Amino acid sequence: MAIEQQVEEIEADAAKAIASATDEAMLEAIRVAELGKKGRVSLLMRELGGMSPEQRQVAGPALNGLKDRLASSISARKSELELAALNVRLEAEREDLTLPPRFEPVGALHPVMQVFEELAAIFTDMGFAVAEGPDIEDDFHNFTALNFPPGHPAREMHDTFFMKPAPDGSRKLLRTHTSPIQVRAMLANKPPIRVIAPGRVYRKDWDATHTPMFHQIEGLVIDEKVHMGHLKSCLTDAFSRFFEVPTTESRFRPHFFPFTEPSAEMDIRCDRSGGEIKVGEGNDWLEILGCGMAHPNVLRACGIDPEKYQGFAFGLGVDRIAMLKYGMNDLRPYFEADVEWIKRYGFKPWLLPTVTGGLS
Ligand code: DAH
Repeated sequence: MAIEQQVEEIEADAAKAIASATDEAMLEAIRVAELGKKGRVSLLMRELGGMSPEQRQVAGPALNGLKDRLASSISARKSELELAALNVRLEAEREDLTLPPRFEPVGALHPVMQVFEELAAIFTDMGFAVAEGPDIEDDFHNFTALNFPPGHPAREMHDTFFMKPAPDGSRKLLRTHTSPIQVRAMLANKPPIRVIAPGRVYRKDWDATHTPMFHQIEGLVIDEKVHMGHLKSCLTDAFSRFFEVPTTESRFRPHFFPFTEPSAEMDIRCDRSGGEIKVGEGNDWLEILGCGMAHPNVLRACGIDPEKYQGFAFGLGVDRIAMLKYGMNDLRPYFEADVEWIKRYGFKPWLLPTVTGGLS
């Protein structure tokens, strides 16, 4: 058979086989059968040596051409198959690029929650229980039982958010302080009572250092023979633990709150000379909370005999002491839900503070 004819036959054969190959293994088998050592093309090429120069001049280029064309159509088919396989995979692994990106877990405890936990650890270690009350309060718990008589000017000290009046004219309100939880604790329990009550409170206020919602912790101790000395030692001890210093010195300035008598504001010794506040040393004072001895009217309103029982109470702003302890100087980012901010100032939620294991 003339060489041209053989070339044509092989080419037609191989073209069919290549076109119908469906994977790389089949293509490789075709390559071996045609171009491999014992392949059809290779065997024909071996015959070139026995040919006359004239014959070789025709057969040589014809066979070389065939070899090149087969090699390139095998590789073209291979690329085609690879592309098809890729398309199948892409179809199967379709990703929705409109989904939000998945971030590293940055969930962290807000500094306010951390301070709640720290104070809870400190006070429960001293034998206090943790009490709670509703954010939406009534006038009785928020004011009247706390010795703010109706029409009393002290009510104006709190810029209260009121709800729409009920048919009977009474209006619920967003509690303006955590003190109503004192009332609830006294109505629900018999003395001795030792509770702290963390919570959100609300006032119509909005500037660099005031937000309409903020956080307080209330404390209440009711027992026989409780006096200001207990108040002072309990709070002084709590704050040296809170600020993680060996001792703090405290000072009490007379003040007025309707629900305590006497009432005081408590300051602790601090140093402001270095630009930041250091607690426990220095020549300056830091106002830390309001406190006093439970007013007999409050005890009576809560069914407790003031002839038999006394108590002390205190209330402090948590947002501000969190700022002091953790070196933040602006209150506003507290409530902006900024992921970068919480990454920087937040706490790992699983490292709950304990008095023995360390607070922060
Ligand atoms: N309720 C007060 C306020 O929000 C804080 C306070 C002062 C609470 C003295 C007390 C207390 O329990 O004894 O301004």
